[in-house]
Amino acid sequence: MSTPAPARAGTAEIAVRLRGIGKRFPGVIANDDINIDVRRGTIHAIVGENGAGKSTLMKILYGVQPPDSGTIEINGEQVALSSPADAIKHGVGMVFQHFMLADNLTVLENVVLGAEKLHGIGGAARDEIRRLSDAYGLDIEPDELVEDLGVGQRQRVEILKVLYRGARVIILDEPTAVLVPQEVDELFGNLRGLKSEGFSIIFISHKLDEVLAVADEITVIRRGTTVSTVQPTDVTSRQLAELMVGSELPSPSTEASTVTDEVLISVQDLTLTNADGRRLLTDISFDIHRGEVLGIAGVEGNGQEELVESLMGMRHGARGTIRLRGDDLTSMSTRDRRQAGVGYIPADRHRHGLLLESPLWENRVLGHQFRAPSVKHGMIDKTAARADTERIITEYDVRTPGPDVLAASLSGGNQQKLIVGREMSSEPILLIASHPTRGVDVGAQAAIWDHIKRARREGLAVLLISADLEELIGLSDRIEVILRGRLVGTFDPGAVTPEQLGSAMTGAEAQA
Ligand SMILES: Nc1ncnc2c1ncn2[C@@H]1O[C@H](COP(=O)(O)OP(=O)(O)OP(=O)(O)O)[C@@H](O)[C@H]1O
Ligand SMILES: [Mg+2]
Repeated sequence: MSTPAPARAGTAEIAVRLRGIGKRFPGVIANDDINIDVRRGTIHAIVGENGAGKSTLMKILYGVQPPDSGTIEINGEQVALSSPADAIKHGVGMVFQHFMLADNLTVLENVVLGAEKLHGIGGAARDEIRRLSDAYGLDIEPDELVEDLGVGQRQRVEILKVLYRGARVIILDEPTAVLVPQEVDELFGNLRGLKSEGFSIIFISHKLDEVLAVADEITVIRRGTTVSTVQPTDVTSRQLAELMVGSELPSPSTEASTVTDEVLISVQDLTLTNADGRRLLTDISFDIHRGEVLGIAGVEGNGQEELVESLMGMRHGARGTIRLRGDDLTSMSTRDRRQAGVGYIPADRHRHGLLLESPLWENRVLGHQFRAPSVKHGMIDKTAARADTERIITEYDVRTPGPDVLAASLSGGNQQKLIVGREMSSEPILLIASHPTRGVDVGAQAAIWDHIKRARREGLAVLLISADLEELIGLSDRIEVILRGRLVGTFDPGAVTPEQLGSAMTGAEAQA
């Protein structure tokens, strides 16, 4: 199906025009005849399933990779972009989902890095940062250390970095996945401010309600092709999802309780201090029962990662005890903990979840080198591992040519589905799921929710950490809020709203 010319607007109003963009990778057509007009001074959302080709397209527009076919026009002029520097020269900037800031540098240093020619590295640069921050309500202080900033602030620094370099078109690839509701509202306020100043925003998200709330136009990409461009007033989120996937979608609702009184994991007084004496975790204690999902809510960076890594034995030096059924895990290695029955879906799939330069079947074996079906007589059984990878690909709907492709070639959401499939395959007693649906599309999200519900029904204990509060509320039997390394409140998911949780997470008083 070819795309109807979306613009009623005249050419002069078009900031970015993409025509017939195509991009192939071995065995995959990532983009196939993409046509989009982004009007100046609008927020243009792009939605589509995992692997639909959104990030590929944005990398083409940001000069990271060339298209195989098609043309890019910026302000009516056809351009060839062979690097991000080229794209920036033409006024196109991009904020990636994984922030690229150096923690130990100040905001000023981060912003000027690589752009010293513009305003130097001193007073003039500081003035320019203040000016941009004031003009667009970014609330950024140039001399603060990045490590002292929260997630929302870091993201605003990334936006400021792009503005500082003179971008007029700003691409944001899944910017809201890491934000709490209040921060999402702030971001949208910033984006609306920018658009009213004539900036054009391209916004990718899997959260369709957000897309409908903030976008002026929405382009749907299905399997590499633009299927339509719609106005948010003309569609519901369900219709949008149907345009993306073409099928009905379930929602995350808690099923009848399966919680028993058998404690599977018991954590007592877990306390962790870093090398320079700073407390990362303080007296964390909780039990999770057979058939229970314990949700942890918190703003990123409040100890979630340290908690999970301490439970997994990836971080040492924690005081306190961790018992899994009868076993004392406290001084076990990560490998022994996995053997004892801990499954782990890591938050950062690039750092902990996958070997990107290895094929999928080797990634199937990763962390499970010591058990069937991947091993036989102490040797890696490639045939069995490949076959089991095929099973995961089918069961978890991983969109890929097959088990021999490199993990790096999968789209973000498909990498996540592979990890979930692998971790569920080892039949754990405790499943630690850290942001299990981050970056996955609505269909895959529903599938992963089903897998977590099934785990609960089958009597696992699940520790769920998620920035998606709807997900936490929908799946958890109990929610604990973590703030500055302490558990500061217990909530009943049946009775709490996302706004109340958001307030507890930021330490603000709950609003009436
Ligand atoms: N460097 C690469 N090598 C091989 N295949 C790739 C490469 N980059 C992307 N692909 C493939 O291209 C397709 C589109 O991927 P892309 O990352 O653009 O999807 P996406 O729409 O951003 O998905 P998600 O919502 O999961 O982030 C996928 O099938 C992916 O596996
Ligand atoms: Mg993507």
